[in-house]
Amino acid sequence: MRFDVITLFPELFAPFQSIGVTRRAFETGAVDVRLWPLRDHADGTYRRVDDRPFGGGPGMVMLVEPLVRCLSAIRSDQAAAAAPRLPVVLFSPAGKPLTQQRVQHLAQGPGAVLLCGRYEGIDQRFIDAHVDEEISMGDYVLSGGELPALTLIDAVARLQPGVLNDVASHEQDSFSDGLLDCPHYSRPEVLSLPEQGEGASVEAAVPPVLMSGHHAHIARWRREQQLAITARRRPELIEAARARGELSKQDEHFLSQLAL
Ligand SMILES: C[S@@+](CC[C@H](N)C(=O)[O-])C[C@H]1O[C@@H](n2cnc3c(N)ncnc32)[C@H](O)[C@@H]1O
Repeated sequence: MRFDVITLFPELFAPFQSIGVTRRAFETGAVDVRLWPLRDHADGTYRRVDDRPFGGGPGMVMLVEPLVRCLSAIRSDQAAAAAPRLPVVLFSPAGKPLTQQRVQHLAQGPGAVLLCGRYEGIDQRFIDAHVDEEISMGDYVLSGGELPALTLIDAVARLQPGVLNDVASHEQDSFSDGLLDCPHYSRPEVLSLPEQGEGASVEAAVPPVLMSGHHAHIARWRREQQLAITARRRPELIEAARARGELSKQDEHFLSQLAL
């Protein structure tokens, strides 16, 4: 799959191409990321990409013309590579909040053109003419769309075959089955941890069921931990799983006994 990223700050993407899971996604060719520095498509000595807003007010607005030229260069490049015409995604606080469901859907597709806004945002006429989808990272304001683009690429890249060492690890992640993840433990079996503000220490042991070797009991314990954590922290996700018919009788019985 391929992402064409329109950005004023291409240098922000360098670390992701050289570290961890995203590096593997780029190296194996599972994800092809092409950066399109917007200033390369701007006019004049100052290579201007923004101007003051009509109607007054603070801040600057990203100009339509450099964006149109940049998108046209991307379309030519996609055509030369016999790649499909990818949809244009704009990152914006006014977009639809990104969910794991949307990420899974994007991960199965051919990719997208990712448009990173800066300043007050983008001239609405470009959005009306060229943007297919607006995606938000949540109800807060960042200074640019680069971190949202990196977030989306990371979330999609780790779902590509061969990118994670163990495919089961993303199948168990939060939201994959609509619930939050269960707690995880590793060595040693028992730890001595200092109590906060005290000289004494407390013993912290791994839940015994995880040491039992009984796979069905472990699976049930994990499921119940997921149900308990989700019910306490994100009850609306339990309601959604119930509405999709994804809670068994055993799940419902466990939830009915749970002290919230
Ligand atoms: C300073 S923000 C512009 C905020 C805009 N004036 C508003 O109030 O909605 C600059 C750019 O950062 C990106 N951005 C900021 N917050 C975001 C969020 N929560 N989700 C997605 N993109 C965001 C967008 O691309 C936006 O065009």
